[in-house]
Amino acid sequence: MALFIRKTKRLIVRPLALSDFIEWKTYFSSMSPPKNKWDNKNRDPSDLNKSNFRRLLKSQKNLRDSDKFFDLAVFEKTSGKMVGRVAAMDILRGLGQTSYLGYFIHNKFWGKGYGKEATLAMIDIAFRDIQLHRIEAGIEPSNRRSIMLARSLGLRKEGLKKRAVFLRGKWNDLVMYSATCEEFGVKWKGQPKTRPH
Ligand SMILES: CC(C)(COP(=O)(O)OP(=O)(O)OC[C@H]1O[C@@H](n2cnc3c(N)ncnc32)[C@H](O)[C@@H]1OP(=O)(O)O)[C@@H](O)C(=O)NCCC(=O)NCCS
Repeated sequence: MALFIRKTKRLIVRPLALSDFIEWKTYFSSMSPPKNKWDNKNRDPSDLNKSNFRRLLKSQKNLRDSDKFFDLAVFEKTSGKMVGRVAAMDILRGLGQTSYLGYFIHNKFWGKGYGKEATLAMIDIAFRDIQLHRIEAGIEPSNRRSIMLARSLGLRKEGLKKRAVFLRGKWNDLVMYSATCEEFGVKWKGQPKTRPH
């Protein structure tokens, strides 16, 4: 099992590579109009060029190597299409060994179970490869789809974090869904991982 790569029944979750340029460009230029306010939008076509893609890969690798943020792409096995992104964001080592969980599925692929399949792979990577003890999904209370996904993943509702994130010009509450590695059948190694210097 290679680090930061998982093959599930229908998907592959892995870091983006240079050879993914066309798929990445297609992903950000082929979405239907946003289905809700959390959905991604198509990007400005002039930004979807090879030098920006190279810059993105470099920045993602630096963030992985410095153990701060793992941003992974999701591909459909049969078609090779990029269908989403999952992430372990803002990694905290020290006493917490925790991170926020991120997930986005291209809006033409919603409702097929891809969100669940890809995020379960990301959780496995977070606990086994990144060696985190806890992951947390912070969700705006009106983001029903995301809450359904968090529940379906088996995350535990922990409560409301008041005025937690500044989004769309105001401070917003987040409902927190969490899990520790034990809840996903991964034994804690007993030694907190430290960040490379
Ligand atoms: C949230 C998101 C990732 C879900 O992706 P998806 O591929 O459509 O999700 P899935 O098909 O795997 O569905 C996950 C669960 O939610 C349920 N669900 C999905 N949409 C639902 C809806 N509108 N109403 C009720 N349940 C719903 C599914 O039935 C499934 O539960 P199950 O496994 O018990 O059947 C996707 O909608 C998205 O990218 N949203 C925009 C970005 C976002 O909000 N990210 C999270 C920020 S906190």
